[in-house]
Amino acid sequence: MSKFATSGHGKRIYIQEVATRDGFQNEATFVDTSDKVDLIDSLSDCGFAKIEATSFTSPRAIPALRDAEAVMHQIRRRPGVVYTVLVPNVRGAERAMSCGVDEVNLVMSTSETHNRANLRMSREQSFAQLTDVIAAVQGSGHKTAINVSLSTVFGCPMEGEIDEADVLRWMARFMELGVDGFTLCDTTGMAYPSQVQELSDHARKLFPEVQLTLHFHNTRGMALANALAAIEAGIDRFDSSMGGLGGCPYAPGASGNVCTEDLVHMLQLMGYDTGVDLSALLQASGRLPGLIGHEVPSQILKAGRRMDLHARPAYLDEAQGATQMAGS
Ligand code: COA
Ligand code: ZN
Repeated sequence: MSKFATSGHGKRIYIQEVATRDGFQNEATFVDTSDKVDLIDSLSDCGFAKIEATSFTSPRAIPALRDAEAVMHQIRRRPGVVYTVLVPNVRGAERAMSCGVDEVNLVMSTSETHNRANLRMSREQSFAQLTDVIAAVQGSGHKTAINVSLSTVFGCPMEGEIDEADVLRWMARFMELGVDGFTLCDTTGMAYPSQVQELSDHARKLFPEVQLTLHFHNTRGMALANALAAIEAGIDRFDSSMGGLGGCPYAPGASGNVCTEDLVHMLQLMGYDTGVDLSALLQASGRLPGLIGHEVPSQILKAGRRMDLHARPAYLDEAQGATQMAGS
């Protein structure tokens, strides 16, 4: 094997599955609670570092996830896996903590316009609300970790470019509140590799002690390239969605999050240690079309793994037989 084939050198890359949150929140079909629970239970055995199981949002805003309590109470929690949930406000955090989640994932956008569109308030109002959420979690006596997801950091579908200095300033403000991690989200697939490398590098250097996750959408086909660019800059943690689920209201028809099986397949070939059992994951992912009623944009599910070889076509052997006969 060439030296390039093992460039990962066994380096650990942490994969965080988000299909049941970022994926299902965009689906028109309501996936039954028992199916969600079965699916999360099988994901728990796939080797993920973290699973974003659901969100504690307003059931009117996200009806697909209106069964968050039932899901969290019914899943089997595998030791070592961090079960995280998205919460938009104090109410959501209280609901989440009552279910004993390991982590709450708070969300705001670094774009004023996108924040108003998604959360119906200004960024300053979001920051004030999330400050209350953080205080509520820290004062609760629960050992719940706090992650902040910053949306649209690589570009806003309405405003365009987002100033990198602005992103780093929002991170600094949340750092002062004592959060445990950040997720830099390419919410609508506007990130490109050199940009990813730069922001990842700067964020890593400014906040070396915090857990940093990158969250890519494959809207424009750049998600895998972006993941590699982030790894070059020292990032070791990614959100991804099995089947490539996850929509984007600003790019209808485009594919969703970076697909977990595509990401894991690539990283394993390169010699990275993702901890993920790809066969088990493909089995779980193969159940998605039946649950949501349509095909999913997973390349590996369609094409198979690189070494899932095909039988030689019979006509090759027939032709060879004929040649041998002719030569004998
Ligand atoms: N859990 C359950 N219900 C909640 C809730 C929560 N976390 N937060 C608000 N609600 C309910 C309120 O009780 C109220 O219900 P009612 O109309 O029956 O009285 C209703 O939602 C509206 O509440 P309000 O405080 O006015 O909030 P809002 O309408 O401004 O909604 C959000 C704000 C953020 C809570 C809501 O839009 C939401 O949950 N959005 C989802 C955002 C999201 O997850 N986006 C995708 C991921 S980035
Ligand atoms: Zn997303």
